[in-house]
Amino acid sequence: MNKLIIRGGIPLSGQVQVSGAKNAVLPILAGALLASGPVIIRNVPHLHDVTTTMELLGQMGVSLTMGEKMSIEVDPTTIKNTFAPYEVVKTMRASILVLGPLLARYGEAEVSLPGGCAIGARPVDMHLSGLAAMGAKINVEQGYIKARVDRLKGARIVMDQVTVTGTENLMMAASLASGTSVIENAAREPEVIDLANFINAMGGRIENAGTDTITIHGVEKLHGCDYTVLPDRIETGTYLVAAAITGGKVLVKYTDPKLLDAVLAKLVEAGALIDIGDDWIELDMEGKKPNSVNIRTAPYPGFPTDMQAQFCALNAIAEGTGSVTETVFENRFMHIQEISRLGANVNLEGNTAIIRGVKNLNGAQVMATDLRASASLILAGLVAKGETVVERIYHIDRGYDHIEEKLAGLGAQIQRVSY
Ligand code: EPU
Repeated sequence: MNKLIIRGGIPLSGQVQVSGAKNAVLPILAGALLASGPVIIRNVPHLHDVTTTMELLGQMGVSLTMGEKMSIEVDPTTIKNTFAPYEVVKTMRASILVLGPLLARYGEAEVSLPGGCAIGARPVDMHLSGLAAMGAKINVEQGYIKARVDRLKGARIVMDQVTVTGTENLMMAASLASGTSVIENAAREPEVIDLANFINAMGGRIENAGTDTITIHGVEKLHGCDYTVLPDRIETGTYLVAAAITGGKVLVKYTDPKLLDAVLAKLVEAGALIDIGDDWIELDMEGKKPNSVNIRTAPYPGFPTDMQAQFCALNAIAEGTGSVTETVFENRFMHIQEISRLGANVNLEGNTAIIRGVKNLNGAQVMATDLRASASLILAGLVAKGETVVERIYHIDRGYDHIEEKLAGLGAQIQRVSY
């Protein structure tokens, strides 16, 4: 196991490069299953979730070749089975994203149910009802989703609730269905648009991704393509908060400022000076402490739930009192108890955390519980006095590419230690 040891109190400064988006590359890797030839995917981040997806595809017989400069060639034509075992799915819920493509391309799939996870129950009922509306026969037996169909048929699907991977699964499935599908109340996340762009680069006909009504004209076949994954907006936001929380000045490169409106607005409210270019964002805190901000998470373009924990850390040392309300997941406050170990003053009332900023946090031993919780503990450690030890950091490696190297490049004293 690994842990991170952080000596806090250094204002971060310099430049940091953002990697490809985790939540775009995972559906794109799954979407490669739809193709009738090899696909090249570029700007692939170095993440454990990417390795897990590659293992999953590899077990199915898909050929994967690592190329230069963070590219992967995926050749789905060597596939031998359409099975996603519990052992893999339980470690990464996004494995459910193979269900739609397998069914659409091969007419069958057997995928383990993901089960609960640290941030909530996270059912996949809308994935299944959408596929059933397209004509799939679905049985759930002994923890496995067993789905079959001759060919999926286009359908009009109204989602009960906005779901990102649900929208993506159905969009992938519909892209090889006969006829046209319409997904209403679709997720509008940039990663959904990236997946649609990828499918269209393979010859798909998806319209209006990025709105809440996506139209997908099914095609007979999708061909190989060469596609570059969009930058990670959550990684971007996390480094910006790292700068803000330490009173530093950091320029985040190779990102897309247009994807971060809600996050940038809150950083400005916190007192940060923000400058943006086409593919960079600079945050300057001018050595000041941030002001507290009120946050309410919501599907895109609202404030992202994946940035909620980081702003809890920011509020913990801010001037004043801020409230953070989580509306997307029912149990995404596991970081609160751990941040409190560093001296944060937080009251949890239902789905709202009321955070009174304290003068200082003090280093302590803390435990990462999920990906974004880990990020918030690292951020808190960067500003805490003395030494913070973050344990169970395998969570962070799932979604942040070389985080300690990137932070060290900004002047942080952070070290990975095996134990
Ligand atoms: N939901 C249902 N039924 C469904 C599907 C979803 O009730 O069939 C509920 C969920 O339980 C949740 C809400 O709908 O309460 C929204 O969940 P959603 O399906 O949108 O989440 P997801 O697709 O499983 C993706 C990201 C998450 C991110 C959420 C919300 C990927 C691989 N994962 O999850 O990313 O938090 O959207 O934006 O895209 C992360 O990166 O740390 C992460 C957790």
